[in-house]
Amino acid sequence: MDLETGGVNAPLGRAGNGRSTKGIPVTLKRTDHCGCLRPGDVGRQVVLAGWVQSYRDHGGVVFVDLRDRSGVVQVVFHPEAAAAHALARQLRNEDVVLIRGAVTARGPKAVNPKIPTGWIEVVAEQIEVVNQAEPPPFLPSQPEAVNEDLRLKYRYLDLRRPEMTEALTLRHRVTKLMRDFGDEHGFLEIETPMLYKSTPEGAREFLVPSRLHPGAFYALPQSPQLFKQTLMVAGLDRYLQIARCFRDEDLRADRQPEFTQLDLEMSFVDREDVINLVTELLRRLWKQVLDVELATPFPRLSWRQAMDRFGVDRPDTRFGLELRDVSAAAAQTDCAVFQQALAAGGCVQMIAAPGAAGLTRRQLDQLTESARQLGAKGLAWLKLGGESEAGAMGGPIAKFIPAAVQQELRRLTGASDGDLLLAVADTREIGWRVLGELRSTLARQLNLIPPDRHDFVWIVDFPCLERQAGGRLVARHHPFTAPLDEDLPLLASRPEEARAKAYDIVLNGVEIGGGSIRIHQRQVQARMFALLGISPEEAQRKFGFLLDALRFGAPPHGGIALGLDRLVMLMLKRQSIRDVMAFPKTQSGADLMTEAPSPVEPRQLQELAIGVIAGPKRG
Ligand code: AMO
Ligand code: AMP
Repeated sequence: MDLETGGVNAPLGRAGNGRSTKGIPVTLKRTDHCGCLRPGDVGRQVVLAGWVQSYRDHGGVVFVDLRDRSGVVQVVFHPEAAAAHALARQLRNEDVVLIRGAVTARGPKAVNPKIPTGWIEVVAEQIEVVNQAEPPPFLPSQPEAVNEDLRLKYRYLDLRRPEMTEALTLRHRVTKLMRDFGDEHGFLEIETPMLYKSTPEGAREFLVPSRLHPGAFYALPQSPQLFKQTLMVAGLDRYLQIARCFRDEDLRADRQPEFTQLDLEMSFVDREDVINLVTELLRRLWKQVLDVELATPFPRLSWRQAMDRFGVDRPDTRFGLELRDVSAAAAQTDCAVFQQALAAGGCVQMIAAPGAAGLTRRQLDQLTESARQLGAKGLAWLKLGGESEAGAMGGPIAKFIPAAVQQELRRLTGASDGDLLLAVADTREIGWRVLGELRSTLARQLNLIPPDRHDFVWIVDFPCLERQAGGRLVARHHPFTAPLDEDLPLLASRPEEARAKAYDIVLNGVEIGGGSIRIHQRQVQARMFALLGISPEEAQRKFGFLLDALRFGAPPHGGIALGLDRLVMLMLKRQSIRDVMAFPKTQSGADLMTEAPSPVEPRQLQELAIGVIAGPKRG
């Protein structure tokens, strides 16, 4: 280390940048936080500690905006306090200083009502420069958007920004409230292992090689699912954890490889108990953190209703543009694309975009292209009124639709002159996917999303299973979810139709949580594994501990996990969960600050009995 620049309390010599400071031992001790001073503090002597956010030398008087976690306050150095003034003139952005002075009221003209400390300033009498900062790659106070990679590389600078401090502070309040709420309701906070067993539960896992068992691996948990179920078998009754989960998935704005859940599990409960408890928790969070009164109970939709009306199982209910099945009317047209889809056993679904009859040909072509990319064969459109006469319909397929059917389509979709109808004729699933997606795109384009709504909705009655392209059945939630009692017989005959005791909570079109009542009987669990194509031997090898546990007195139980990052993102109206996490990873899973992942020493690999096969470079 350069002795001249030294450690925290070392005398500061010339810092290599032409700035000279006298050797001053740190003697001051903080009494107050910058952002907390108010007119009621006028007259007090205070000592503040923080970072120089900006300095202005007004030929004589030096103004410094001093920042700490609580906010910013203006500090004034007058030439009369000669020693302090001389030091202040050498300050640079992000230097760390301690300042002693008197809180003083600002003159009426100098008041800055935009900041909470704008009515006062601190007149400095003494300053200690604790550490000088080199010119940083960006200033935390820079209002213009800084490239996100740079923000992530120098995350400690980025976290100095008030928006980031606000996010981490709110996140702290949310988790504290969750813990308090859980405590009041009899939950025990219990930690579960990070080094876990590789189990086929859903997403791809991160593996950790074992040194003591060469060739064997731990997996990082995708969620504490089976541990929390085991805790119920153990009789612990109610479990809670602010849990880290790891999933090696393709990342998006609301997905990270490492994320946090509020994970809950309860014994002797049914679906209503879990839904009511979580509704109450969310109501309290919104009230106490955002001061927003939510109307409860939240609306509920069955999975099928959600799909039919919104095309997705996480519907954004803040705006209309709902899907309508218009197959019966479409059958009475001469439109070939409709007839072909219907003949193939498909259906015709439509959405009505209000006031969108004026979209240009180019915009319509773009929508059609998006529809194709989402898997549709095309997109049929009809303009109501507009360029053509009132009451009529325009567009390439209009002439194939008799007047009476046009009236019927208006009735079914609720559309009127000036609106645009979009139709997809295909399998029901493709119609859902394409129109569900276009619905959101159009709502954004047409500015139909009210900014201040908090639209919660519970989605229930999901199908247990889903058939994949190759015909294989997979669990929609996870293999431990119980089927509805009345649908149990269906497992043998028409398994895709069996519904699950599962529920998701959705806010403004984002899935913020999901859970279920679990299978607590060994035979049912074994049957579920069999349906999923997991042989009894494989089930025993991979989930033997669960099947064993279910043999020795498992209570009925169920639970849920809320995605904490997504919840906080939505509470703060941020665009990405990266903006509410202290140290997130990039889209390609990299930590730009520590430069993880990184190669390791050959010796480390040797100890783990691992050889690396050179693969394609990614990222
Ligand atoms: P699930 O897989 O639905 O359920 O996850 C619960 C919630 O976690 C959030 N989430 C994510 N957040 C950020 N990045 C990710 N990659 C990510 N993946 C999921 C979502 C989601 O709703 N063990 C079950 C819960 C249970 O059955 O009790 C589970 O993990 O908000
Ligand atoms: P085509 O007969 O393929 O030239 O299509 C005529 C119009 O119908 C074009 O605007 C297509 O985008 C649209 N179209 C084609 N297939 C479908 C479909 N399956 N559903 C809805 N519109 C379609």
